[in-house]
Amino acid sequence: MRTRVARVATTALGFLVLAPAPARAADVTTPKASAATARQEIERRADELLGRMTLSEKIGQLVQVNASGGTVPDALKERLRQGRIGSMLNEIVPAASLEIQRIAVEESRLGIPLLMGRDVIHGYRTIFPIPLGQAAAWDPDLVTAAAAVAADEASAAGFQWTFAPMMDIARDPRWGRIAEGFGEDPYLASVLAAAMVRGFQGDRLSAPNRIAACAKHYAGYGAAEGGRDYDTANIPEGLLRDVYLPPFKAAAEAGVATFMTSFNEINGVPSSGSEFLLRQVLRGEWGFRGFVVSDWNSMSEMINHGFARDLDDVAVKSLTAGVDMEMQSTAYSDHLEALVRAGRVPETLVDEAARNVLRVKLELGLFDTRRPFTAKPPGPPDARARGLAKAAALRSVVLLKNEGRLLPLARGTSVAVIGPLADDPYEVLGTWNRDGQIEDTVTPLAAVRSLLGSAERVRYAPGLAQTRSRDTSAFGAAAEAARQSDAALVFVGEEAILSGEAHSRAHLDLPGAQKELVDAVAATGKPVVLVVLAGRPLTIPDVFAKASAVLYAWHPGTMAGPALADLLFGVENPSGKLPVTFPKTEGQIPVYYAHKNTGRPPTGRKLTLIDDIPPRARQSSLGDASRYLDIGYEPLYPFGYGLSYTDFRYANLRLSAARVTRADTLRVLVDVTNTGTRDGQEVVQLYVRDLVASLTRPVKELKAFQRVRIPAGETKVVELELPVSSLGFHDAKLRYVVEPGEFRLWVGGDSQSGLESGFEVVP
Ligand code: BGC
Repeated sequence: MRTRVARVATTALGFLVLAPAPARAADVTTPKASAATARQEIERRADELLGRMTLSEKIGQLVQVNASGGTVPDALKERLRQGRIGSMLNEIVPAASLEIQRIAVEESRLGIPLLMGRDVIHGYRTIFPIPLGQAAAWDPDLVTAAAAVAADEASAAGFQWTFAPMMDIARDPRWGRIAEGFGEDPYLASVLAAAMVRGFQGDRLSAPNRIAACAKHYAGYGAAEGGRDYDTANIPEGLLRDVYLPPFKAAAEAGVATFMTSFNEINGVPSSGSEFLLRQVLRGEWGFRGFVVSDWNSMSEMINHGFARDLDDVAVKSLTAGVDMEMQSTAYSDHLEALVRAGRVPETLVDEAARNVLRVKLELGLFDTRRPFTAKPPGPPDARARGLAKAAALRSVVLLKNEGRLLPLARGTSVAVIGPLADDPYEVLGTWNRDGQIEDTVTPLAAVRSLLGSAERVRYAPGLAQTRSRDTSAFGAAAEAARQSDAALVFVGEEAILSGEAHSRAHLDLPGAQKELVDAVAATGKPVVLVVLAGRPLTIPDVFAKASAVLYAWHPGTMAGPALADLLFGVENPSGKLPVTFPKTEGQIPVYYAHKNTGRPPTGRKLTLIDDIPPRARQSSLGDASRYLDIGYEPLYPFGYGLSYTDFRYANLRLSAARVTRADTLRVLVDVTNTGTRDGQEVVQLYVRDLVASLTRPVKELKAFQRVRIPAGETKVVELELPVSSLGFHDAKLRYVVEPGEFRLWVGGDSQSGLESGFEVVP
């Protein structure tokens, strides 16, 4: 079979007017010429409109306000009539949404429709796994398909814009928003960010069931000090360009319609005031032609940052930097007009920002093909949406441990279903579930009952009411249920609200008395299967140790139950792989696979650990390596890791050349055999290391991957393409360079294993 590396740099799909990237082969039906003509026509219409607008109307396009909870107060009506609002967010009541658009279109002088936005982060009514869970599926097509369902549902409800995907690289699981992104790796995040953009926007943004996507939070938000949300990021420019910016660049190349600035500062400059990020990189280098929205109050918060004096200063700095639309705060709506009239801001900057917004509205077809006069809440997920949500949940679950091949359980097994998350239809939906309905959720308990089809074989005893409960009075019943059953299925983790925005944690343990619950169940001696539902990696090796098998399920969404039941009982085979390194303990953070080697790497030498040190030891550099005395250096589980109910053997790694130039694409082939008796899916991963460079390079970097289905006993030849141009980095002068020299290459099932080879890049 032939597999290809997803090449992010050339995956521009549709939305050609905004996309600077070349068309894919599939787009040949849209000749460049007609795309250029369409683009010119949009520009002509935007200019024509702009020419008829007053200063106040132009500023109106830059203003976004929050909904008034389903009402349309008189003050709002008046602002709409005056053309002083360009966009709203969160109007979920269809009647209000329709009335707002009606006033804007019929009662304002120019009749410009509003852009209605909503956080559709991992589904609208049908809730898919949280983005970190979707990342664990390593399946771009699935991400695209899920986003397309979300776009369909959200557009039916009257929205034309989502504030997603979030693509902040996160290497600190204390940060609650790690749940909302694609994990720690720039390549994986880039591929998935582009895939999600394609899902929301489709080939043609003006299609009535597509919505504009938003690349957020630009930039460096995931590098918050200490993993505290909103905190400062200090990122050298080379690292910013090599690690934090690539997903945003990939989104821009995929034609994303909008960008959102982040709350944080980077190197002393808040993103909403960063000319470097917005003008130099986004517009100048990447040719972005959509518009930039601030985050909620992120402009006015520049006063708290100590970067702006007052709202006048905020308006000047944000507009100058290149923020086109202000979310929630009021620097543009209340201050910009006077600033322009006083000559403190050139009107041309207002024109430019208004044109950027109008361009996206025109692209969306708001003035013609997609008149914003429909809005109704979408009904319950249909069979297709449910099927997709289940497929996504199935692929997102990572099997971390399976001692003695306890899993899958035989259908005849009697089970005790235990834990606060076993039958909770809300918490399994995860963070940023705004419009999912709990009546649509199938819980693990319901699904296990339905799969086993026999009430006697399932004993439900939650033990705790919710994850933070400390009341242990129901532990006895839980232990008794375990005693009477063949195995205990224990569903523990974090409630949805414990991850996501503003929900950073210093301790990544199981909240409440959940650890004690697992202890009580394990003490019965019955085999324990732990199912962890959480928005981040938890550092709970001691809890894992009590279980024979561990499924890490993130927050799987509407179809959590059927997916987990099918995995537990072997209807399906787990295939998720970690998109983020699992630390042993919080003190090990940050820990990520693409670290530097250092001058004293801990690998390949005997390490002195804490108990090896004699009393009254004299000063010495014991062990001479970069590691902790108490836990060594290895993570609990590495990036890319995940087991299956079958085994895969890698053999016969071969490269199309031993020496390549920068213009070449290396073809990498490997035979992957399913040596077990069950069909399975494997995510084949390719990593490289640039051995000697003018700036030191990470010990490994993911450069390609492919999910393959391999029937039991069969071998597939997997071919991955490695463009040599993708091996570069930003050098000391911040030039992107691929330096000649030796590279090592690994292909395997995670970041720490695999077959090894090498090649040389020659000038
Ligand atoms: C979040 C954004 C979100 C916005 C609108 C902010 O608090 O940081 O991610 O899109 O609110 O709800």
